[in-house]
Amino acid sequence: MAYQDLPYEVVHLPLVDSTNRLALELARREGKKHGTVILADQQSGGRGRGSRSFSSPPGGLYISVILRPQLPVDDLPHITLATGNACADAIEQVTGIKIKLKWPNDLYAQGKKIGGILTEASAYSNITKSIPFVVAGIGVNLNTPLEFLPDSLHDNAASLYSFSGVTYEISALVEALIGTLLKEVDLLQDNKDNMVMRWQERDYLKGKSIIWQTPAGDNIRGTGKGLLPDGRYLLTTSGGDDYPVLAGDIAITEINGLKIK
Ligand code: BTN
Repeated sequence: MAYQDLPYEVVHLPLVDSTNRLALELARREGKKHGTVILADQQSGGRGRGSRSFSSPPGGLYISVILRPQLPVDDLPHITLATGNACADAIEQVTGIKIKLKWPNDLYAQGKKIGGILTEASAYSNITKSIPFVVAGIGVNLNTPLEFLPDSLHDNAASLYSFSGVTYEISALVEALIGTLLKEVDLLQDNKDNMVMRWQERDYLKGKSIIWQTPAGDNIRGTGKGLLPDGRYLLTTSGGDDYPVLAGDIAITEINGLKIK
């Protein structure tokens, strides 16, 4: 499938600093439409959640989609979650490898991070009383040879190629992903609960020992109890205190009784 045959515009570049940065610029400056796709073979300044970088060597999928959903501002976290569902469905369809979702934005397979999502929104408009557009940025270590990833990621990250030895068609994943993503975002307008339910079925943290690093710098330990309908993630401490987590990072501290340092 050639990108120009798809029913939305695809801007495909061999190299860019960040597809999210470019997508935000094109949405703002050129008013690019809902569903416009910015795709790159490599990124020199890939952005991750919480001001982290996202390593983007050749072989991966680096894509940002401009979305102009009719949603209240409070529903924006649901776009990241819906994008997770779309990524999981599309990756499974193309590779046959089972995907789990780690709240709020990580894609996992076989216990390793194989990709992530970074949703960035335009500034709130006081005129329309809404967010004019959102960019859903997705990075997937698809055909990435592990030696192309920095050493610091080798313990926790992998690529789909590293599991199967198969080199996948990036355009097949793009096509499956965008179709699924646009449907997921459409569905959010009238039924968030259905999206949340499907996300819960892929929950990577549920039942695991986890640690929440709060934005204030505190560490709270507990067990992952699952995604709440409003998009927050529930941690319960051993003393029975509930923390609905909205921001900050969650890390796993133990898998099958093994402590993770
Ligand atoms: C994360 O793991 O923290 C999120 C990573 C998101 C990476 C993607 S790659 C395409 C898009 N462009 C970016 O600069 N970031 C996102």
